[in-house]
Amino acid sequence: MGEMRERIIVALDVPTRAEAFHLVKQLAGWVGAYKVGMQLYNSEGPDIVRDIQLMGGRVFVDLKFHDIPNTVAQTSRVMARRLAFMYTVHAGGGSKMLRAAAQAAAEEADILKVEKPLAIGVTVLTSITQQEFEQEMGMKMPIVEHVVALAKLAQQAGLDGVVCSPQEIAPVRAACGHKLLIITPGVRPNWAATDDQARIMTPGEAIQAGASYLVIGRPIIKAPNPREAAQRIAEEMNKAATQLLTPPA
Ligand code: C5P
Repeated sequence: MGEMRERIIVALDVPTRAEAFHLVKQLAGWVGAYKVGMQLYNSEGPDIVRDIQLMGGRVFVDLKFHDIPNTVAQTSRVMARRLAFMYTVHAGGGSKMLRAAAQAAAEEADILKVEKPLAIGVTVLTSITQQEFEQEMGMKMPIVEHVVALAKLAQQAGLDGVVCSPQEIAPVRAACGHKLLIITPGVRPNWAATDDQARIMTPGEAIQAGASYLVIGRPIIKAPNPREAAQRIAEEMNKAATQLLTPPA
């Protein structure tokens, strides 16, 4: 499965460029990528992506695009031009939007002769409760069923992977096979605070369930020694991976 530390994506949930750079410097070589979400991206602007790349980091641009197919496709081209390692679109945007995004990202990368950004579909936000799902969205099924349906839709439309909660990893893996990338937040080592995450798994459990990448924020960025925290997490992932017979992509 390669180096487990490559499968750690650190959520740079900090408000300033200076704080982000400080973390990237400390973690260089110990994690696989950095997630720039809407807070940091919108406060510091798109150059934050290039600046982290200049420091040697791969960047997961997590802006969760959701618009008409043409708009998301053109923005997917921008993601390729910005050399994003991965980026997110809402899987609920429908198959036309997803297909347009995946195709545009691949085409633009091909034109530029750069690595194609991995197009990742966000399934159902883990902040949505079953009650909200039914009463506000008119859905009449367990959330996990919809997550699996969206993951299949994303896969058929040519996306590289999906984001889902740790509880949904195993059903998505079972339904979509071993090639689809599964990216999961909500990961907490036993030794870290749970913060506001409710349905959590440890890094080892998430790997055993079939996760490809773990998005981890506070257990690393708020640790007294972020590098040491990342190393401990990678060790735990390594242990879990050695017990796997069929490693996921
Ligand atoms: O600090 P923590 O490890 O909880 O950070 C998790 C990261 O994953 C945050 O950037 C958060 O926005 C993101 N995330 C999440 N749950 C989701 C989707 C994204 O925690 N359903």
